[in-house]
Amino acid sequence: MTYCEAYEKLAKYGQTHLLKYYDELNEEERRALLDQIGETDFSVVRVGKSDEVRGVITPIPCTELDEIDAHREEYLEAGLEEIRAGKVAAVLLAGGMGTRLGSDGPKGVYNIGVTHEVYIFERLIRNLMDVTDMAGNFVHLFIMTSDKNHEATVNFLSEKNFFGYDGSFVHFFRQEMAPAADYSGKVYLEEKWKLSTSPNGNGCWYSSMAKGGMLDIVKNEGIEWLNVFAVDNVLQRIADPVFVGATKLANCVVGAKVIKKAAPDERVGVICLEDGHPSVVEYYELTDEMMNAKNDDGKPAYNFGVILNYLFHVPELSEIVDKKMPLHVVEKKIPCLDEAGEHFKPEKPNGYKYETLILDMIHLLDTCLVFEVERKREFAPIKNPTGIDSVESARELLKLNGVEL
Ligand code: UTP
Repeated sequence: MTYCEAYEKLAKYGQTHLLKYYDELNEEERRALLDQIGETDFSVVRVGKSDEVRGVITPIPCTELDEIDAHREEYLEAGLEEIRAGKVAAVLLAGGMGTRLGSDGPKGVYNIGVTHEVYIFERLIRNLMDVTDMAGNFVHLFIMTSDKNHEATVNFLSEKNFFGYDGSFVHFFRQEMAPAADYSGKVYLEEKWKLSTSPNGNGCWYSSMAKGGMLDIVKNEGIEWLNVFAVDNVLQRIADPVFVGATKLANCVVGAKVIKKAAPDERVGVICLEDGHPSVVEYYELTDEMMNAKNDDGKPAYNFGVILNYLFHVPELSEIVDKKMPLHVVEKKIPCLDEAGEHFKPEKPNGYKYETLILDMIHLLDTCLVFEVERKREFAPIKNPTGIDSVESARELLKLNGVEL
């Protein structure tokens, strides 16, 4: 892109301030800046929260623990059959910034050990290997990274020999970045030659798999189910055959692992029906009415929270990949240049990042198996260093499950 083209593009979106330092830059920096402006989608930038109007919310039936226990053998067998036939793969979402944890590296390389090293990635791979050992074959593992952590993630896992996993089954792909802006919608500069950007949210995972060539592997290997999971839950079961079998036997196109909420205002997305379609309402969008609603049997009507562990049936994903997803505007601490052109690392949020979320994909699909898991066995998210959903709380839960730290 030439300077004139860049200027024209920026003018359209009210972002010409991004060329403020152009005259000071050397040739290489100018090229980098113009290329980035050429690649960036400025149409995502907006000010304030989006006010998407929601449809009619009603409760969704859940397959609860006792029902799962009663059918465990049947589900297990059906799931193992799919895994042994190579029809199941796992997708690890590891492109996030993990800002709340506050570590510089990718979240997965964080060491949660006490007496010896235990990395988050290691725990996840070991959990997956419980299944692949049982099935007698590896499953393909796709790992999503972003520009901010790609090299560090690939180098770490390669150095650690994928913690015993067969490296030929591991595939990395990158998600895209979105510009980050101040409260008036002006995109920040991170360097005089570089815009501030942030990963564009975990809702992009399937389109990023497509862009990264991963769908060729999916097609060539005959993969029919993708178990997508977050990097931070160190207790979760991955490619869980019972979950796979139950979703398949229920003829659902997506399965969502859920936990019973610990309190009406717990910070988890709640699964429900919206205009008759499965849907997830984020905790910050929950109304008092939803929090206090009761079923006929007197139990809370919206009592199950998602844990970001979904099983998608591949054929239906290709039908929704081009559908528009809502854009979430999230307040964030954005490292940037200040008025004087000096680097500034904010201590509190100073603007917005723009994201699509995987939970919005659920609403685009017709049928969802809501599959309950026991929270103390399968839910130990690491978001913060201490307190709720932290390294500390996850350590306690890992110990409870017999994992030595
Ligand atoms: P979180 O919502 O915890 O976001 O991501 P985060 O960016 O990692 O953490 P904070 O908010 O800055 O502390 C949930 C899951 O989605 C992935 C994360 O890596 C995590 O597995 N994710 C999130 C992506 O892969 N890409 C994104 O753009 C955002």
